[in-house]
Amino acid sequence: MDFPIYHLAFFGDRSLIAVIGALHVIINHMFAVGGIPLVVALEWWGWRTRDSHWDDLARRIMFTFFVVATTVGALTGVGIWLSVALINPEAMGSLLRVFFWAWFTEWLVFVTEVALILWYYLSWKSLAGERKRSHISIGLTLCVFSWITMALIVAILGFMMNPGTWITDHRFLSAVFNDIYIPQLAFRTTLAMVMSGCAGLFLSWMFTSAETPMRSKAIRFVSTWILCWLPFCAIALAWYYHVVPPEMVKNLPVALGTQAFEANAQIILGALAALAGLVVLIALLGISIPGSLPRVALLIPILAAIIIAGAFERSREFLRKPYIIYQYMYANRFRVDDYPLLTHEGILPYSTYAAVRQVTPDNQLLAGSEVFRLACATCHTVDGVNGIRAKLSALYLNAPWQVDAIKGYIEHLHDVKAYMPPFPGNEAEAGALARYLVSLQSAVPPATADLQAPASGAGALAKRAPAAATPPAITGR
Ligand code: HEC
Repeated sequence: MDFPIYHLAFFGDRSLIAVIGALHVIINHMFAVGGIPLVVALEWWGWRTRDSHWDDLARRIMFTFFVVATTVGALTGVGIWLSVALINPEAMGSLLRVFFWAWFTEWLVFVTEVALILWYYLSWKSLAGERKRSHISIGLTLCVFSWITMALIVAILGFMMNPGTWITDHRFLSAVFNDIYIPQLAFRTTLAMVMSGCAGLFLSWMFTSAETPMRSKAIRFVSTWILCWLPFCAIALAWYYHVVPPEMVKNLPVALGTQAFEANAQIILGALAALAGLVVLIALLGISIPGSLPRVALLIPILAAIIIAGAFERSREFLRKPYIIYQYMYANRFRVDDYPLLTHEGILPYSTYAAVRQVTPDNQLLAGSEVFRLACATCHTVDGVNGIRAKLSALYLNAPWQVDAIKGYIEHLHDVKAYMPPFPGNEAEAGALARYLVSLQSAVPPATADLQAPASGAGALAKRAPAAATPPAITGR
């Protein structure tokens, strides 16, 4: 561990990336990768049918996409990697080393995309009439560039899920063309098209007036767009699911529902399928009775698209647990290859920024809290999201927590729940961590203090976790 640890005491490290990432994916797919082709299609249709209403609608929708994609979209895109670098610098370092040239290309493509999006939107009025064809060409070029930015990043996402032969040959092309890449790219491309249609339905309603026939025509057009892409999206999803390594598929119930609802995974899957069904229904109604669809009905597809895309991203991120890069690096930032050394010598001596570098009889709690931050805190907080105190309370209820039992648990983390990495440290560190965790039972849960704990919260945690003689204060579930 060559980097300081950044830990969000209440919100949790995972949540930071999740919020920024989900926001970015939704905007990128809905408004850029899928959105721009929809706008160009509308513009082209207006040009072909010589009906300026279509052109007007396309330009207004484009204005929405343009504003959102160049502000929140672009910022969250960079934000994802910034937050990953903050929370998991080791993983970011590995990815950068493998994908340096892909990222470099991505930067060039992204800058071009931003220039094109400005050109496309701002030249709408000047490149009209005879020059419309040139304007549509700019739009098509923009479609290609926004797709390429996604295509490059998806290679990295696929690599994290399964680096395939790269693990042994370390070749750049093996990393890019991993097993997951093409199926995931196919799924994301078609999903983006469907998502843009979901947004387009509502925007068509918003930017047309009920008095003109344009509203019905536009809703019918966008509904057809959705229904054309949906079958391809479904096929691509099946293909993608098929290439996910089987042991990851086992994580699906927890991925979908968290541990608390894993038994209800089927219900959650059913609900997501029903939402997709609702989108089909509304698109069918959009074709048959576009004029009678109420506004709320047109909002449903957007919400459905956001929920489904969110559930997909969460599941994808969770499936590869306990790894951050499958079979190469665990989510706790330790490389698989380093485990033999670390489980023997310990993680503290190799953690440059740890408050203590060795477990001694006098520093058990402090060392334990440092081990917690190093080995558990990428996924757990103390009292916040996925809080360890609540997890242990649920396991042991009111019974006094025992150091030996918890130490035994720590040493078998991976056997108990396959989505947790094996404990990376040595025996002394497992003991210190167990003592620290046991001390949490008797410390009053200071939810507010946890919120205020500084990024380097080890000291604060240790201070408020004295081996107090107060009776167990935790009540079980
Ligand atoms: C890769 C992420 C990850 C890491 C690292 C991790 N855990 Fe977990 N752990 C989880 C998840 C996810 C759950 C289940 C959360 C849920 O859905 O309720 C969990 C659950 C638990 C539970 C409750 C299990 C049960 O049977 O109910 C305990 C106890 C626990 N973790 C302890 C630890 C300790 C101690 C460490 C550090 C040595 C650790 N975990 C590291 C992800 C992780």
